[in-house]
Amino acid sequence: MARRRQVYEGKAKVLYEGPEPGTLIQYFKDDATAFNNQKKATIVGKGVLNNRISEHLMTRLNEIGVPTHFVRRLNMREQLIREVEIIPVEVVIRNVAAGSLSTRLGIAEGTVLPRSIVEYYYKNDALGDPMVSEEHITAFGWATPQDLDDILALSLRINDFLSGLFYGIGIRLVDFKVEFGRLWNGDDMRIVLADEISPDSARLWDLTTNEKMDKDRFRRDLGNIIEAYQEVARRLGILPEAGVHELRPNEPTKGRA
Ligand code: TMP
Repeated sequence: MARRRQVYEGKAKVLYEGPEPGTLIQYFKDDATAFNNQKKATIVGKGVLNNRISEHLMTRLNEIGVPTHFVRRLNMREQLIREVEIIPVEVVIRNVAAGSLSTRLGIAEGTVLPRSIVEYYYKNDALGDPMVSEEHITAFGWATPQDLDDILALSLRINDFLSGLFYGIGIRLVDFKVEFGRLWNGDDMRIVLADEISPDSARLWDLTTNEKMDKDRFRRDLGNIIEAYQEVARRLGILPEAGVHELRPNEPTKGRA
């Protein structure tokens, strides 16, 4: 049987043509990169866990009225999504100082921010995803002022909801990155949450021990990466039946009708 046409390959995911127009299949790889591709590894089982975790978080967000590209999970590593026009801006929402904010501004990691801070980065690997302001985004036409209003409102709503959801399972949502896309329906356009939300794209710290339960374990060589992702899934109540040893990579989208 023919292999599905690949439409895009990113560092941690592959997008394939979907079963009907306007849909795509998002495949989660086990590959991890950091520091704009300078550090690479394969973390067996990561794709399966991120597929589950992102499915869960997108579903919960949908339930509270946040529109997303997510349709349904198809199998261990794949989900059906709506095809959107990705806005080339990474939106980072921070509640606690960490990572590049701490480095750039000299604020100790773990300092609770006076309020949530939203930052924008231009999605461009060749340039290393530089930080930009709303001025750059609207002047260069990456998004309109109306798009940005929607993006900001949705980002704050997502942050409020996910902060509470994680707090309830003993996890502090330190910061996270989201991407948005335009979903067209005839002449109507809606901004929807796209990409993924997972421990690859968020900082999640245990509330009592401050232990890192996210990709910083890989970035900083802290070890036990998959165990940390599994613990996030376990607390969310969605640990796959298969243990981590069953989470072997499979051939992407081979032999599907
Ligand atoms: P930063 O502190 O390195 O700027 O990262 C902020 C958040 O964004 C953190 O939760 C990790 C996430 N992130 C991504 O998802 N992709 C990226 O390329 C980077 C740099 C950060």
